[in-house]
Amino acid sequence: MVTERRGFTMTYKKDTVDGFFCPSKIFMQDAKEAQKPDSPHNKITKTCESGFFDWLAPHYDRLQPAMDPSRYQAHSIILDILNTIEPEPEKFLDLGCHTGMLTSQILELFPEAHVVAIDGSIAMLEEARINLEEFSDRITLAKADFRDRWEDAIDGDVDVIVHYASLCYIPHDALREVYTRLVKILKPGGWFLHCDLTEERLPEPVKRIAANIREYQRNSVVDDIPDGERLLKRLEQVKNANVKKGRLVEIPALPEQQIAWLVGAGFEFATRIYQDWRLSLFLARKPE
Ligand SMILES: C[S@@+](CC[C@H](N)C(=O)[O-])C[C@H]1O[C@@H](n2cnc3c(N)ncnc32)[C@H](O)[C@@H]1O
Repeated sequence: MVTERRGFTMTYKKDTVDGFFCPSKIFMQDAKEAQKPDSPHNKITKTCESGFFDWLAPHYDRLQPAMDPSRYQAHSIILDILNTIEPEPEKFLDLGCHTGMLTSQILELFPEAHVVAIDGSIAMLEEARINLEEFSDRITLAKADFRDRWEDAIDGDVDVIVHYASLCYIPHDALREVYTRLVKILKPGGWFLHCDLTEERLPEPVKRIAANIREYQRNSVVDDIPDGERLLKRLEQVKNANVKKGRLVEIPALPEQQIAWLVGAGFEFATRIYQDWRLSLFLARKPE
């Protein structure tokens, strides 16, 4: 079913929440349940329902140069890799699409491609909807927690799954389960470009130096961001409040764990091909 909403044509299937395709009704009940403070869901990381990303959504894109200076290089490497894949991919899944930054780059690079973009935050998806308006006939935006059964959003097998810095927010056992589901939805020979925060076993002095470089990078751009300093301070406060409530913000895995879990899930050629401090790009393929 195709529906017009605020001038944006989107493909809706089955149930919707606030206009976004929601893969299962169960999830909708789940999300309501999770908002109750005594819900068992709150005992585990529930970042996407905790409001953290909803708060961040309107500020996300302009804060990126300070929050995540590695992103631009990583995105261009991801796009370079995508460019070398043969035959040219037609169907993509973007896991944790946030405001649609990487999604729009893919849609530009592959003018025939369709992208299914999933995120747990309605506010992020609203931003994505606005940013991706020109590609509206080639995108399906879906609201789902990675841990739920969001596969209904995918109509047929996908050629490539891309992911940037979103899976590090779910517990490791859930992450491993997600990997096994990703193998299933890929076409044989399909690729998973998986860029995430990783835990690095580095000696303290190296960690300190790297953290200082990060701080320097952040501070050198913050003056150019309208209200940048205030927003970054607020971001720290919101993050810390989440950590205090037991809703951990990031739980990165070690790179060797990532590779072992990808292989265990059924991927081949799982390898880390790029690293920038705590950001790693892994590449893995579903066997032909
Ligand atoms: C730090 S952002 C990074 C995402 C993005 N790919 C990028 O390039 O910036 C993390 C994204 O993951 C989403 N997210 C976090 N936990 C999630 C979960 N359990 N299920 C679905 N989405 C989640 C957030 O809503 C947010 O948009």
